[in-house]
Amino acid sequence: MSSKATRAPALEALSFEPRTRSLDAGLAARASATAALYAEADADQEAFWARLARERLTWSTPFGVTLEWDPPFAKWFVGGELNVAYNCVDRHVERGLGEKVAYHWIGEPGDTRTLTYRDLQGEVNRAANALLELGVRRGDRVAIYLPMVPELPIAMLACARIGAAHTVVYSGFSAEALADRINDARATVLVTADGGWRRGRRVGLKHHADEAVASTPSIRHVVVVGRLGDGAHMVDGRDHWWGELVGRQSDRCDPVPVDAEQVLFLLYTSGTTARPKGIVHTSAGYLLGCSFTHATVFDLRPDDVYWCPADVGSITGHSYVVYGPLANAATGILYEGAPDTPDWDRWWQIVEEHRVTLLYTAPTAIRAFMRQGQAHPRRHDLGSIRLLGTGGESITPEAWRWFHEHVGGSRAPIVDTWWQTETGSIMISPLPGVTVAKPGSVARPLPGIGAEIVDGSGNPVAKGGGGYLVLTRPWPSMLRGIHGDEERYRQTYWSRFPGRYLTGDGAKRDEDGDVWLLGRVDDVINVAGHRLSTIEVETALADHPAVAEAAVVGRTDDVAGQAVFAFVTLEAGHAPSDALAVQLREHVAYAIGPIARPAYLLFTPHLPRTRSGAIMRRLLREIAEGRSPGDTSSLADAGVVETIREHAGRAED
Ligand code: PRX
Repeated sequence: MSSKATRAPALEALSFEPRTRSLDAGLAARASATAALYAEADADQEAFWARLARERLTWSTPFGVTLEWDPPFAKWFVGGELNVAYNCVDRHVERGLGEKVAYHWIGEPGDTRTLTYRDLQGEVNRAANALLELGVRRGDRVAIYLPMVPELPIAMLACARIGAAHTVVYSGFSAEALADRINDARATVLVTADGGWRRGRRVGLKHHADEAVASTPSIRHVVVVGRLGDGAHMVDGRDHWWGELVGRQSDRCDPVPVDAEQVLFLLYTSGTTARPKGIVHTSAGYLLGCSFTHATVFDLRPDDVYWCPADVGSITGHSYVVYGPLANAATGILYEGAPDTPDWDRWWQIVEEHRVTLLYTAPTAIRAFMRQGQAHPRRHDLGSIRLLGTGGESITPEAWRWFHEHVGGSRAPIVDTWWQTETGSIMISPLPGVTVAKPGSVARPLPGIGAEIVDGSGNPVAKGGGGYLVLTRPWPSMLRGIHGDEERYRQTYWSRFPGRYLTGDGAKRDEDGDVWLLGRVDDVINVAGHRLSTIEVETALADHPAVAEAAVVGRTDDVAGQAVFAFVTLEAGHAPSDALAVQLREHVAYAIGPIARPAYLLFTPHLPRTRSGAIMRRLLREIAEGRSPGDTSSLADAGVVETIREHAGRAED
């Protein structure tokens, strides 16, 4: 299908609504960040990051030059060596925090496991020794495909300990998606599980792993966590039970000092083509970004109980469930299951039981809770919460207010955090006690981060105007590239405005200079906080023998933010039917994962095209939203729109 890259809708036309202010009452006096941080960073950005890198990270070899910037390639903390697992675990044990809880893990059926920093150290070392036994060496890639079990962060840290890179694939992704990622990364070992619990059901995973591994020649070993204990089909010589393999290892494994720029992980995310991009993150700069922002944006204190319910397979999970919190010796919660199991108060019950003080989640979750009403949070004492965070999508004022009132007791401030898989850590956010928060605005760039909103020619827009959000300076946790595709890295992020990083988001700055996000300006949609490429879904649909072509757009959705809306034309000899619609939906879920399954699927005899042959997505977006498609003068056959609109009333929900 069309692989046309960035198409920009008129940014001014997107919604913008100034909203009321809310002050972070009472926080200013105690908050861990101060306004002085902005001044320090403005005065000398490199000196600022160098100071933080020396203070926040433990180095085995100190770095020399802070930044080598050969646009668009950055090297941070040049010559420095450190070990990320050591920074996240051992150093805390060495300074007397061995008995501090790193994770309270809660299984969906109610089983629990508590891991102190000392426990984590032993587990990580054993797992690292197991990887070494399987032949994994520094620089190798290990794929991890696990549900939310403690072995997930343990496996990530085990890789970091021996200098191997991990690539975590969200366990909701299909076998095909897993195979693609393994092949792109050329991973040699896969860590997976027999399955996990989801909504009261046992959900198998190993069969997906087996199906994937059938087409991944690089995989030599598969390590299987026995979460369900039902047994699994094991291939002799290739498959190993985690319990046996890891269980027999020594709990000592010296951390390997690695270069500051050693690859820590690859994380695949959707771009504007059918092929997901393997975003490359390295060690020291990434860890610094996570640890600094986790401490300052969430105003972390030693006795906090912090909970970010995001899946570890997402960048939010990497940065704010694993690396940031652990680098800061925080106590966190890991919950395996669904928010509605056994009932919609499951999260609030966990907050009450563990006296959670900081909760960082996504607007999709908040909207889902809103739908269920206030009775659920009301049933529990949420008085321990002192700060709330949100991010990943825009939050509406209604959801903001609900979160503030019913979860935050109208007391806890909310930080709305803007960032991306590529940025590694939070870039734009209020700072508690420093910034005045406005519901719906992400406030201003954090200290050390340069962001601007520019027009199509790259000139900063006037206050009140909309434009492209760009980042103007390199930052320590920035992506270092797209795995195996330097050209795509240059093209995607650095070619539109040379020297500046293109985020792909539209934004607006208000009279006070605060930033408001306006949505994507490319063919990426955000479904329940998951980034999806419309072209990836189109390609999956077009793969089906009945499909001639498909066009996919996002449609506003009350809960998920956006829902997948697919327009499908059929090959001759195939007729639209409910059964075919179901089949096509499942086909997409199989190819990409359930999150990409179209919520709406409309059979249409034609797709609207411009005279040059490009599919008119703007028009399709408007039809999907049920709006009038406006100007169609560039359309090759204006009658097509009428036909589609007639059908649109019948799109399946
Ligand atoms: O469009 C922006 C949206 O999520 C995209 C990044 O998605 P992903 O790489 O999955 O990273 C999620 C990490 C939070 C962005 O390009 N986005 C992220 N945060 C916000 C947001 N949109 C509005 N407000 C936010 N706070």
